[in-house]
Amino acid sequence: MAEDPVRELQDLVGALNDWLRFQRRLGRAGVRREAGPPAAAPAAAPSERPTLAQVREELGDCRRCKLSQGRTNIVFGQGSPQARLMFVGEGPGAEEDAQGLPFVGEAGRLLNNMLNKLGLQREEVYIANVVKCRPPGNRDPEADEVAACLPFLRRQVESIRPRVLVALGRVAAHALLETNTPLTRLRGQWQHFGKVPLMPTFHPSYLLRFPRERHKTWEDMQRVMKELVSHEDH
Ligand code: URA
Repeated sequence: MAEDPVRELQDLVGALNDWLRFQRRLGRAGVRREAGPPAAAPAAAPSERPTLAQVREELGDCRRCKLSQGRTNIVFGQGSPQARLMFVGEGPGAEEDAQGLPFVGEAGRLLNNMLNKLGLQREEVYIANVVKCRPPGNRDPEADEVAACLPFLRRQVESIRPRVLVALGRVAAHALLETNTPLTRLRGQWQHFGKVPLMPTFHPSYLLRFPRERHKTWEDMQRVMKELVSHEDH
């Protein structure tokens, strides 16, 4: 069977780093090395797990939906290919479209702050969106646009295999969970995207408008961190 030793080594190093970081966060300075990183071994054959570069190549100079007509850049996603935690937003805004990177505007700064408060660096998580091209005037992406783009997000999740997904806002939660249940009912409750536990929470833009709601997303993120630690703990 064809194997990619570079990929395998990257996975191992990433898993070991994550594991050590979590152990330190748990206050375990003298971690026993022989316990090993529990999350290292991929369950499926390498052929079922694309690299992010492959997914990006599959996407190409995408013209699958009308959003391609108005974009400056495809915003594919950003972060660690070995991330244990993956965030999914709605779609690029003006700054994201200009830079080709997700969550680099005001909402992104709030997301970065939240990550830092949780002891996480942006570089160690992965951040993507339901649609990879900016909807005009920042309108919600339409059903056909979501349908065209979602397979690539699915492939990114297959590639990264995060332990936990966080859906940022109504559009992401509805697209990933294929539901219309109001976000106020979904948030804070564990869901699944395939086999990956998914926590829906408020979008940072919403939290900028309603700062009093921030504690709810903070609580949701505590649930997420607990879930991540529980994975790394056995
Ligand atoms: N809002 C989103 O949903 N995604 C981004 O990348 C930026 C703002």
